[in-house]
Amino acid sequence: MRVSRRMMMQSTLGAVVGCRFSRAEENGTVIAEAMDAARQAIPKAAADPGRPVFHFHSPAQWHNDPNGTIFYRGWHHLFYQFNPYGSEWGHMHWGHARSRDLVNWEHLPIALGPSKDKGEEHVFSGGAILASDGRPRVFYTSIGNRPPEQWLAEPQDDELIHWKKSPANPILTVKSHGGLTVNEWRDPFLFREAGSTYMVCGGNLRQSGGQGAVQLYQARNAAMTDWKHLGPIFVHPDRAIWNIECPNLFRLGRKWVLLISPEGPMQYFVGELDLKQPRFIPERQGILDPGKSYASNISVDPAGRTLLWLWGKTETPADKGWNSVMAIPRVLSLSDLGDLRQAPVSEIETLRETPVRLPDMTLQRASRSLISGDCLDLQCEITAGAPAGLRVRGTEIRFTPRNGALKVGDVTGFAAVGKTVKLRVLLDKRVMEVYANDGAAAIFQTVDTWSGPLGIEAFADGEATITAIRSWRMKPATFDLSRF
Ligand code: FRU
Repeated sequence: MRVSRRMMMQSTLGAVVGCRFSRAEENGTVIAEAMDAARQAIPKAAADPGRPVFHFHSPAQWHNDPNGTIFYRGWHHLFYQFNPYGSEWGHMHWGHARSRDLVNWEHLPIALGPSKDKGEEHVFSGGAILASDGRPRVFYTSIGNRPPEQWLAEPQDDELIHWKKSPANPILTVKSHGGLTVNEWRDPFLFREAGSTYMVCGGNLRQSGGQGAVQLYQARNAAMTDWKHLGPIFVHPDRAIWNIECPNLFRLGRKWVLLISPEGPMQYFVGELDLKQPRFIPERQGILDPGKSYASNISVDPAGRTLLWLWGKTETPADKGWNSVMAIPRVLSLSDLGDLRQAPVSEIETLRETPVRLPDMTLQRASRSLISGDCLDLQCEITAGAPAGLRVRGTEIRFTPRNGALKVGDVTGFAAVGKTVKLRVLLDKRVMEVYANDGAAAIFQTVDTWSGPLGIEAFADGEATITAIRSWRMKPATFDLSRF
């Protein structure tokens, strides 16, 4: 995946539509053409019975990372990496949607497309922040036939539908690093601290081989058009981590959290931020989600919850007219020991239908059918001396009490060591999210919707008791296309 997507990134540079329009209207036309292309794919995507119904997804075609997630004037805004022209990666634009409740969505027109007249070929990932005038700004990586640049755009209306790219662009170029060479430099993420605005970007520090690093910048003016590079704030201690994408650095309770997407399972670090050195000092670390989620973004809602947004890779066959979802937004918190905890937002429970309560059961080297369905919220508690778990449409969720491992399909996370695990499974057609022990482990995985068996069963390699089994069928969320 990583190699082929990178190769695709290179091969599509310079391969998009030429200059057929006057400069003034060019970007509007770029977006109008992209909208037409995306709209044409909607019937095909909608016809696929394997497409998730309560996970956020673009109207059709390919999307990847969540971008510029921000709560503004009563709405959660979600922008995302979007290819309006196909169901594989390419032609990066910023799609846009908004939601009042994190469950039901209104698709809005594409927010940003490449400014071909300025040599821009892709609008890569980035972040949002409220500026001193109280309105959001977005920052993203501009990709063209030149080194990456960081660009700024500002909204022209309060619904954040129309955006104007700043005349000051590029607001940061590789030159800002002086003698330091930063490769794969991208994915700005913004935060404010002690009256200053800061940005972090990902990349790596060596010409070949690489070493993943996060760079820190400070805004020198309120318009956020002038920035100073403060230095690498974090260099990954593991040399095998050759690159860092989408770094997010933010306060969580009394600590700072750094999330990274290192071209492999996402990692988190909890620690302190010393802005004088400047340096991020990790104290604890872990795998955020060993499954098929990637490229995080963060927003904070009016209740003060820190929300985690993740791209969920669905690896959908190319002929289905769609690819990917967003994971259900997760509320982040820290455990007493300072480890990261993730819980799906409680709002998702509004989609539950009548609960089904199943009797407790004891299994002795056996399996037993529980329920069948392809859109479910299922919970249970398993107490076992030997591996036991669930099989969800052929994909196994296997808890090993000896080491606390929780294997979901082909990936393994860690719940707590001990005999008991509390599981929650959100099954939505092609995708499944598994949470263990109140968010100690969170795993995004795919299930085989097209040929996999229906039905969910419990199994035990030795003796296991399964209690507190509850399940709800889930209604589809609303995806309003009337303004797309
Ligand atoms: C992460 C990523 C980012 C980049 C974007 C391009 O999935 O590779 O680093 O900005 O996707 O779509």
